[in-house]
Amino acid sequence: MNEHVQAATTGPLFNPLAPEFIRDPYPHYARLRATDPMHQTAFGSFVASRHAEVSLALRDKRFGKDFAERTIRRYGPKSLEEPVFRSMSHWMLQKDPPDHARLRGLVVKAFTARRVEDMRPRIQQVVDETLDRIIPQGRMDLIEDFAFRLPVTIICDMLGIPEEQRELFYTGSRDGGRLLDPVPLSPEEIAKGNAGNLMAAMYFQQLFDLRRKQPGDDLITQLVQAEEDGSKLSNEELTANIILLFGAGHETTVNLIGNGLLALHRNPDQLALLKANPGLITNAIEEFLRYDSSVQLTGRVALEDIEDLGGKRIPKGENVLCLLGSANHDPAVYPDRPGSLDITRPNVRPLSFGGGIHFCLGAQLARIEAEIAIASLLRRLPDLRLDDAENPQWRPTFVLRGLKELPASW
Ligand code: HEM
Repeated sequence: MNEHVQAATTGPLFNPLAPEFIRDPYPHYARLRATDPMHQTAFGSFVASRHAEVSLALRDKRFGKDFAERTIRRYGPKSLEEPVFRSMSHWMLQKDPPDHARLRGLVVKAFTARRVEDMRPRIQQVVDETLDRIIPQGRMDLIEDFAFRLPVTIICDMLGIPEEQRELFYTGSRDGGRLLDPVPLSPEEIAKGNAGNLMAAMYFQQLFDLRRKQPGDDLITQLVQAEEDGSKLSNEELTANIILLFGAGHETTVNLIGNGLLALHRNPDQLALLKANPGLITNAIEEFLRYDSSVQLTGRVALEDIEDLGGKRIPKGENVLCLLGSANHDPAVYPDRPGSLDITRPNVRPLSFGGGIHFCLGAQLARIEAEIAIASLLRRLPDLRLDDAENPQWRPTFVLRGLKELPASW
C-alpha cells in the first residue's frame, strides 16, 4: 500500500485542507462512503459522501442555504458587516426562495442553451487566436497561457467589459477560491476578501455608470436597467451578482480544462482514443467532470429537523456538506470502475454542476468552452507532452479543485 493510500485509511476521515487530501481526495472519499457516509466533522457539519444523500440534499426543499444565519453562527453577530460576507449574502448562489428566483430570473436568459450555442464561433476564435500566438513558442503552461484567458474573455464579452479594461481581469488575483472552503477563514483571509471585494465593487460601479450613459447589447446594461426599475434589483444585489458571475465562471472552467487535460495525459489510451475519434469530445467532457470535478463540494443547511438522511438525524440549522466529487465516484451509480477515466462511459451524469434550484447557470457555457478548448488543442498540437504528469502542483483550495500550473511542450 503506498504512503498516500495508507494516509487515507488511517488519518482523520475528513481533513480537506491536508496536503494528501488536496493531492488526491478520492481514496479519502472511498473510505468515507464505506465507513461513515454521513460523517459528522469536528467543526460541526455533516459530510455526505454517497450519491443518494448528496443528490437528495441538493434537491430537497427542506434544505436551503440560510447564508446569513450560518455566517453569524460561524463568525459572530457582526460578521455580516464585513464587506465580503455582505456581498456574498446577496449572491443568488446563497439565496433561498423567493429571492433566489428573482435574482436568477434576471440573468437566466443570457445563459439559455440557444444563446450559449450561438457563442461557439466566438469561443473558437478566442481559442484559435491563443493557439496561433503560443504554437511557435514550443512550450507553455496550459493553465496560465491556454485555459486561463478563455473564460475571462467570454465573461467579459457577455458583461460588456470594454477591451481596454480587461487586462485587470486577466492579471487579477485567483485567491477567491478559499471563500468557499468549509474550513473557516482566518482574519487575514477575511481582510483579503474584503479588499478584493471593495476593489471589484468600485470597478463595477464606474462600469454601471458608463452603461447607464452608453447602453450596450450586454448583460450589465440589462441589469442596470432592471436596477433602475427599483423593484427588481438593488444596487448592492447587482454588484454582488456580477462579482458572482465572474467568480463562479472563471476558475471553475479553467480547472475543468486543466483537470481534463491532466486526466487525459495520465491515461494515454484515452488520449489516443479521443485523438482518433474527435466526435467523442462531448461525452469526454462529461467524463472529465465526473472523474475529477473542478467543484468538489457545495453545502446545504437543514431548514427543519430532518429525521433521517443516510441513517442520521439532521437537526434544523445543521450544515450538510455535499461531496460532489465523491458522489461522482460512487460505485452504486457507476458500478464499472468508477475511479478510472473512460471517455466512452455510458450514462455519465455528474453532480459537478449541482442540482435543484441552484443548478449551475453556466453549465452549458462551461461545457462548450472546455469542448472547444480541448478539441482544438488536440487537433493543432497532437505531439504535446506534459512535463510532469505524475506530480502536478495542486492549488491549496478544496472546494475548487485545480492545478497551479501544467507545463507542456511539443
Ligand atoms: C466547469 C465549470 C463549472 C462548474 C463545475 C460549476 C459548478 C457549479 C455548481 C456545483 C453550482 C451549484 C452550487 C450549489 O448548488 O450550491 C454552480 C452554481 C452556479 N454557477 Fe457554476 N460552475 C461552472 C461554471 C460556471 C460558469 C461558466 C458560470 C457563469 C458564467 C457559472 C455560474 C454559476 C452561477 C451564477 C451559479 C449559481 C446559480 C444559482 O444559485 O441559481 N458557473 N456552479
